[in-house]
Order: sequence, then structure tokens, then C-alpha cells
Amino acid sequence: MSNAEIPAPYGTGPARTDSTSTGEAGAVRRRVRIHHLQQAKDEGRRFAMLTAYDQYSAEIFDEAGIEVLLIGDSAANNVMGHGTTLPITLDEMIVFSRGVSAGASHSLVVCDLPFGSYEVSPEEAIRSSVRLMKEGLVHAVKMEGGKHYAAHVRAMTAAGIPVMAHVGFTPQSEHSLGGYRVQGRGEAAKAVVEDAVALADAGAFCVLMEMVPAEVAAMVDAAVSVPTIGIGAGNATTGQVLVWQDMAGLRGGKQAKFVKQYADLRTVLGDAAAAYRQDVHSGSFPGPEHSF
Ligand code: KIV
Repeated sequence: MSNAEIPAPYGTGPARTDSTSTGEAGAVRRRVRIHHLQQAKDEGRRFAMLTAYDQYSAEIFDEAGIEVLLIGDSAANNVMGHGTTLPITLDEMIVFSRGVSAGASHSLVVCDLPFGSYEVSPEEAIRSSVRLMKEGLVHAVKMEGGKHYAAHVRAMTAAGIPVMAHVGFTPQSEHSLGGYRVQGRGEAAKAVVEDAVALADAGAFCVLMEMVPAEVAAMVDAAVSVPTIGIGAGNATTGQVLVWQDMAGLRGGKQAKFVKQYADLRTVLGDAAAAYRQDVHSGSFPGPEHSF
């Protein structure tokens, strides 16, 4: 079957995948698969990815039609309160993955291989990925690193593990990279393109780029046939990703330049908590309607 014959995730034909629901005008909604992302690139369409770390956020984003959900190792910063992504473990990623997998019936679910779970060898990367897929029930893994990980990607892909490559700024290497810094400026652009091409050639189904100049991301997108995803990488990529707490305004403090905030959940939740507290203090909650 050629790509052109594969029904789009929101097609109208009979469902072929594990999860189906009927939406607007009877359109059948199918599980997003990696070939749908390739199809998007081939047809000049875009897709959206958000991080998710638990069941309810996954369910909400899935219902909103977000094509890809990422259990990012940014759970270390955004859920667990660590200062970097480095401390999160494979076991912890599996716990978050289970919640997201339970909430996502249509989105493609991708999980990060955390720091320390894959670097040593392709075998280690396969072993960790198998745990994420078997125990966390995710559909694909994301792995940080450049062309030196091409052998890992080749072995993982051969083992049936779909791999999303992550190049440019790779937060797990923040101590080697000297902090959160844009990668690929000037002469360094060539290295980012080489990394992406090597990983795509090794079998990565997608290349994610973090904090690279927009023109470098465009060069990468032109150099690889697989879809690309950007975060702080301009607008030429097939997809975009944001951390959900940044996108929805749950996190306080200064936001990165690449973040667009689509809601102010911090205020909404804070107001709700203050109203609840006031009702408890005044004795108006629980009322008779909440009592047995
Ligand atoms: O861990 C994460 O959230 C990520 C995204 C920022 C791409 O890797």
C-alpha cells in the first residue's frame, strides 16, 4: 500500500486500528501512527505535539486532536520539581507513561529515554525502550543525541522500536553544552544537519530539533525525508511541540522565547483554590446538596 492510500487519522473509511470513535459528520477517528506523520510531511501538512505526564491531561489533549503526546523527561522539571531532566529514572518514566497511555486513545504516544538508560550501548537502548513499550505501553521512544547514536537507532529500529531522534539543544547534555543555549549557530549549523541526516538514515521515523535557528531547522527539514518537529526551531518543521504547562500557563516565572501561552491555568486554578478555601472557612461548603 502506498502512503497515498493510507487513510488519514481523521478519515471516513472503516477503522483499522485499536481505537476508534465517531466524531463530526460521522468521521472515524483512528489512532495516529508513525506513517500518518510521514504522510503529513509528504503532503505538506503540519501536526501538533504536546507533553503529557498523566491520564487527565493526556485525555484532554487527545480529545483536542493533538496528534502526538510526549512523556518528556521534562517531567523531572515540570512534575517532580528537579532543576534539570537528569535525575528522572526509567522506572519513573514508566509510571508517567502508564497514566498517559491510559488517557490517550487516539494520539501517538512517545516516551523519552531518560539520561542513563541508553548511552552505554545499542543493547541498553533496546532494553530500556522495550520496558517503555511493554510496561509503559508507549508506541515509540525519543532519544537525545547526534550522529554518534546512529548505531543505536539502527539496532533499535531493527528490533521494531520506532525512534524519534532529538538533536540541537539536548537538555540531558546541559552540563556539557554549558546550559540552555541555542545550538547550530554559524559554523555549527553543519553539525546539526549532519546529526539529523545520520539519524534519519539509521531509521529514525522523525527528527525533533530543540533551540536551533529557524534557518538551520529549515535546512534539516529539507535534508531529511522524514518529518521534523521543532521547539524553538522556527516554523519550517512538519510539527511543533511545547511543554503543556508552558502552553497552558500553569508554570509561573519567565517563559522561554519560543513559548506561546494559550491559557492562564495558574490563575484559574489559584482562583478555584481560593474560592474553595473561602467556602470551607465560611461554612458554605459542603452544602446540603453535597451531604448524605
Ligand atoms: O522532555 C521534553 O519535554 C522534551 C521536549 C521539550 C521536546 O524533550
